[in-house]
Amino acid sequence: MLKSYLTMKTLVAVGDKGDWDSYKKFIRRKGMCGKHGWRFQSFDYDTILSGKLPEVKTDSLVFFFFFPFEFWKKTIETKRYKGVYGNRSFYLSYVDFWQQLKKRITKRYPGKKISFVNDPTAIITDRDKVRTRKILARAGVPVSHVFETRDFKKIISLINQGKRLFLKVRYGSMGKGITYIEKDRWITNFGFRNGQILSRKSDYGWKFHEVTGNNAFLKRLLRQDLIIEEAIEPLLSKGRKFDLRLYVCFGKVLYIYPRSTDPRNVTTNISQGATGEAQEFLRGLPERVLELSKRQAIKSVRAIKLNFAGVDIMPRVDNGKVTVIEVNTFPGFPRARHFPLSKLLMTEILKRH
Ligand SMILES: Nc1ncnc2c1ncn2[C@@H]1O[C@H](COP(=O)(O)OP(=O)(O)O)[C@@H](O)[C@H]1O
Ligand SMILES: [Mg+2]
Repeated sequence: MLKSYLTMKTLVAVGDKGDWDSYKKFIRRKGMCGKHGWRFQSFDYDTILSGKLPEVKTDSLVFFFFFPFEFWKKTIETKRYKGVYGNRSFYLSYVDFWQQLKKRITKRYPGKKISFVNDPTAIITDRDKVRTRKILARAGVPVSHVFETRDFKKIISLINQGKRLFLKVRYGSMGKGITYIEKDRWITNFGFRNGQILSRKSDYGWKFHEVTGNNAFLKRLLRQDLIIEEAIEPLLSKGRKFDLRLYVCFGKVLYIYPRSTDPRNVTTNISQGATGEAQEFLRGLPERVLELSKRQAIKSVRAIKLNFAGVDIMPRVDNGKVTVIEVNTFPGFPRARHFPLSKLLMTEILKRH
C-alpha cells in the first residue's frame, strides 16, 4: 500500500467556497482522478495560509488554483475601500498573497515533488495590463498600440487627429474602470463627483455614461495608473461587435466562446452586459480568423508561462487580422451543458502531469 502511494499523485484544487463557478464545477469532476490512479484533495486558501494543510500521502502533488475570492474581498476590493478601483495597491497585495502561498506550500511538504498547473509566479502577470502587454508584444503576439503620454493636451490633440482611445486602469479587470474617448464622444464607467473618481462596490452594473468635454474628469483620470490603448476597429458579425474567449490548456485550444454586444457599447465583458453566443456564431466567421485566433491564443498563454488560461481576442476589420486583448488566468467556466470544460481540463491535467 505504502509503495503505491509513492508512485501515486495527488491533484490539489485550491479555491474558495464563494466561488460558485469554476472551482465548484472542477471539484464535481474529482471522481475522474480515482479512475486514473490519482488522489484528489481540495482546500481553501485559509487552510494554506493559516498553516493547516494536512498530511498528504503521495510523493507528488499537483496544485491547481482558482481565484482567491475571500482574500480579494477581505483584503483588496473591500467594502471599506475608498480609493480608485484597479490601482497599484491592488497588485502589490495580490503579488504578496501568491508569494506567501507558494512559500507555505513548499515549506509544508518538504521532500515532496510539488508542481503547479499554473505557477503562482505566472498567475500574477495578467493582473498588470502593462506588463502583460509587454510580454505578449515581445513574443510577437498582435496587441493594441499603446500611448505612453499622460499629458492632457497631448491626449486632446490625439483625439482631435481622429484617434480613438481606451483608458483602462492598469490593475483592473471584468470591464471595470474603463474609459473610451474619441473626438466629441467620451464615455466612462467610473463615477465622478466633486472632483473625485468614484468606483462601484460591485463587480456588476458598471454602467457607461457620457462625460464628453469633462476636462476635470480626464485630468483626474490621467493621474491614475493606466494603460492607454488605441481602439481597434473590430470586425462585426451580423451587425454585432464581439470578442472570442479561447480556453487554452497545455498548448491546445479546448473551446472558443464568442461574446457579442451592440457595436455602440464600449466593452464585450459579459459581466457588464454582453451576451454569450452559441457555437453557431463561430460558423459565421472566416476560417482564417479562427485559425489565427487559435494560434495567437496558444502563443499568448505560452508567453505568460501558464498552462491554462482564457485568452480574449478581437478580430479586426482589416483583412482577417486579430488583436489579443487580454489573458485571463482565472476565466469563468462555460455552462457544462454547453461545454464540459472542467472535464476536459481534468483529463489534460491528469495526462500531462
Ligand atoms: N484597444 C481596444 N480596442 C477595442 N476594444 C477594446 C480595447 N481594449 C479593450 N476593449 C474592449 O474592452 C473590454 C475590456 O478590456 P480588457 O482589457 O479586457 O479589460 P478587463 O480586464 O477589464 O476585461 C474588452 O473585452 C474589449 O471589448
Ligand atoms: Mg477583459
